Amino acid sequence: MSLDDVPLEIYADVVSEEEEATVCADMEKQLSRRPYEPAHWDSVIDQYREIERPFPRLPASALAVAERMKAFFQDQSRVVPAVHFLDLASDGEIRHHVDSVKFCGPHIVILSLLSPALLHLQHEHSDARLLLYAPRRSVYVMRDASRYDWSHAVLKGSHTFSPSPGGGPEDTCTVDRQRRISFIMRDLPPGEEVPTASGPGAR
Ligand code: OGA
Ligand code: MN
Repeated sequence: MSLDDVPLEIYADVVSEEEEATVCADMEKQLSRRPYEPAHWDSVIDQYREIERPFPRLPASALAVAERMKAFFQDQSRVVPAVHFLDLASDGEIRHHVDSVKFCGPHIVILSLLSPALLHLQHEHSDARLLLYAPRRSVYVMRDASRYDWSHAVLKGSHTFSPSPGGGPEDTCTVDRQRRISFIMRDLPPGEEVPTASGPGAR
């Protein structure tokens, strides 16, 4: 089982170090008003805080990145015009889940800020598993099989792994997950109409 079999795309260096620093500093003011939350009984995320901001309420730095990230969607007209910021503490983690098909469309596009992460994918109907490395400032895209047929988790702590399957010890690298801010965009579920500015669904 390799990346060729899983349509999870990872794109390096989608933002520069300067952009990362500016976006994080701008969002820090809004995030830091909240405490990190422990996992609630039905929740898959532990030690996190989150906010969602519609495009018109984003600082210019984050809006520029959001506009760039639209390019990762097949149909840009269906992109939800909002960004979900998920701030995971250094001891926070995201346990296995598949995002709700009711609330999220066929694409989930995630930019990793401040820390790299190891993603663990588990096939829903077999024993297949995969570890994938999402570098700091990269974007990964879940769609098709990686969106629906695999559950995903974001590991905490430090892990040594081999980026190329079957690689020897000289190939291994260690990922030490630190505090990480995910910049998350999604599209509308199939069948849900695109809200118009003047229509009843407008916010
Ligand atoms: C989620 C999720 C992954 C990440 O918010 O549903 O899986 O990389 N996030 O932040
Ligand atoms: Mn998810």
